[in-house]
Amino acid sequence: MSKADPTAGVSETKPPLDSRIGRDDPFTFGQRYLNNEEDVFKHNAWDHVEWGDEQVMEAQEKIKKQYEAPVREFDKNLYNSQPAKYWDIFYRNNKENFFKDRKWLQIEFPSLYEATKEDYGPVKIVELGCGAGNTLFPILTQNKNKDLSIVGADYSKNAIKLVKENEDFDPQYASACVWDLSNPDLELPEGVEPHSVDIIIMVFVFSALSPDQWDSAVKNLEKMLKPGGHILFRDYGRYDLAQVRFKKNRLLDDNFYVRGDGTRVYFFTEEELREIFGKVFKEKEIGTDRRLLVNRKKQLKMYRIWLQAVFESA
Ligand SMILES: C[S@@+](CC[C@H](N)C(=O)[O-])C[C@H]1O[C@@H](n2cnc3c(N)ncnc32)[C@H](O)[C@@H]1O
Repeated sequence: MSKADPTAGVSETKPPLDSRIGRDDPFTFGQRYLNNEEDVFKHNAWDHVEWGDEQVMEAQEKIKKQYEAPVREFDKNLYNSQPAKYWDIFYRNNKENFFKDRKWLQIEFPSLYEATKEDYGPVKIVELGCGAGNTLFPILTQNKNKDLSIVGADYSKNAIKLVKENEDFDPQYASACVWDLSNPDLELPEGVEPHSVDIIIMVFVFSALSPDQWDSAVKNLEKMLKPGGHILFRDYGRYDLAQVRFKKNRLLDDNFYVRGDGTRVYFFTEEELREIFGKVFKEKEIGTDRRLLVNRKKQLKMYRIWLQAVFESA
């Protein structure tokens, strides 16, 4: 499937919602607008779709049903007490197909690509929750800046193994380590000194934390970032298809779920991001991307919602 195709990663008949692979659809705004509702089934996808009360109520109705059968208390403890284990299993089972062409990175986070230019000068980038390196490698392979250093950190040792074993892993510019973003002892990833980082990237990682871990995570970010350093954030938005699709025995807490593979996921609103990060960092931008995917055969409408933000350290 072409990476320029806005339905990339979401098949016509069944979106692969139980896997992270292939779900990182391009994030380019403004490709196709739905001006006339009657045209909705003429294309597979529409960008920047407005939501009215009707869509919100429909989503809330589905979420209300999830409360009838939440995750049992015993299982909750299981998933919340050892999240790294489930990510490890995930990376053990999914060793391939991670590397998509993340063109949206360049479009949405231009500062990242500025940093890879030959004459940019010294820059330290850290990707937290780097997984198999879907963001780290596109940066590394196009880097022309000999003063760039990039650290990938992830809670899963199998993910870090995949990063280190990748043929594009270049120890001259990159390092990778196992590290817990939510660790309350404010231990930083190996090779990261306090207040030394220019750019932190967090792509679909904050959602893997439970709300009671957000504060420690923010403290870790604060400790790492240089004054004037930036956090580049992208994650799931409230009422995304992946949230409303959850059925029985998946709800851990409000807007927080466990997937079939044991990994956890939270769905944020813009206001929540303001609350979580705004206490400590300056908000440079927060935006919501709403994309409507259409299954023309089944005449189904599916809404994807992602949040993107940039914060700056004081
Ligand atoms: C949905 S995946 C996203 C991976 C990668 N950022 C990407 O965009 O492809 C979430 C990642 O966060 C990692 N993760 C979950 N909890 C974490 C934590 N507390 N500290 C560091 N990484 C964590 C998982 O191991 C997993 O690799």
